[in-house]
Amino acid sequence: MSHKKIRQGIIETCIEMNKSGLNQGTSGNLSHRIEGGMLITPTSLPYERMRNDDVVEMAFDGTVIGKHRPSSEWRFHRDILLKRTDVNVVLHTHSVYCTTLATHERGIPSFHYMVAVAGGSDIRCSPYACFGTQELSNLALEALKDRTACLLGHHGLIVLADTFEKAMWRAIEIETLAKMYVHALAIGEPPHLSEKEMAQVIEQMRRMGYGQAPDLDKVKDTPKLMSAKPAVSEVPKSKPEKPARQYPKLVKAKTTSVQTTKAQTIKVDTSAQGKIAAKPAAKAASSTKPAVKPATPKRAPKAAAAPKTKAPKAAAPKVTAKKPAAVKKATAAKKPAAAQGTPAASVSSTSFKSLVGSALNRRK
Ligand code: 13P
Repeated sequence: MSHKKIRQGIIETCIEMNKSGLNQGTSGNLSHRIEGGMLITPTSLPYERMRNDDVVEMAFDGTVIGKHRPSSEWRFHRDILLKRTDVNVVLHTHSVYCTTLATHERGIPSFHYMVAVAGGSDIRCSPYACFGTQELSNLALEALKDRTACLLGHHGLIVLADTFEKAMWRAIEIETLAKMYVHALAIGEPPHLSEKEMAQVIEQMRRMGYGQAPDLDKVKDTPKLMSAKPAVSEVPKSKPEKPARQYPKLVKAKTTSVQTTKAQTIKVDTSAQGKIAAKPAAKAASSTKPAVKPATPKRAPKAAAAPKTKAPKAAAPKVTAKKPAAVKKATAAKKPAAAQGTPAASVSSTSFKSLVGSALNRRK
């Protein structure tokens, strides 16, 4: 990955960390391996203000290139990336539930099988050491032995991964586990799964590439996947490649006179009608999905699912359902032959625009 992409990835992941509730303010930090060193967040710079050239480049020998000082935690980022050649990303956050446990110097035991997402049968908590110190770095490395995460006593969480995406996924899983554990503790220490049971979980996860976007070439235990190419019979005859708009354009209606089955003449917005017609075509396109979905990350990070941007309401098809008579009239314009076969009589004109508009208003 280019340095530019890594810098962008660092900023996006930091913003995502805060948006997902995993972190707040500038209390976390993030680094990614580069040749001979790392790119790391600058200290104390709000993520929303961070630009590519704010990210600090630091060689493993401590040389820094950049206009800011690196994160105060550069020592543990550097030491982890030097020692753990199996990972590229070091993510640190003060997520609430992990930190809650860490204030009690408690790690997360095998109370739930998902604890194995950190690579072992528990997630350790290191003893306390002051932030930014070599002592903290040494203790963190110790707690991370054979693990991809650990809690830091009276401090927070460290997560390791090979990509930003997996780091976020793992951090959110672990924060969720911490939350569950804190809740479970309200009724007493829950029983722990045995080492044997956890070993089975770890093996099962390894075999299945569980919870991560699996590299299908490496994963053996996968159901047989159908070809992503749909069967010929499923291919729609029309060309559906243009995705339907989510809503019809209700401006500048071009009107066309249409005779309806009730022998009425109405004016329809032929441009809007075109948009509506596109919807069923798109549905036909989606029916070409194979019955068995090609493997997708089963456990996409919540953060990925989290964005709360509301999809615009699919107004057009719903209008069709809510106002069958009106839309039938509009649709009739598509079938001039049938419509022309009906006796003609004149009635008042109604623009399709106002029909759809009023239907939309009613839905609100
Ligand atoms: P920085 O802003 O220096 O990265 O510090 C935040 C932090 O989490 C210290 O542990």
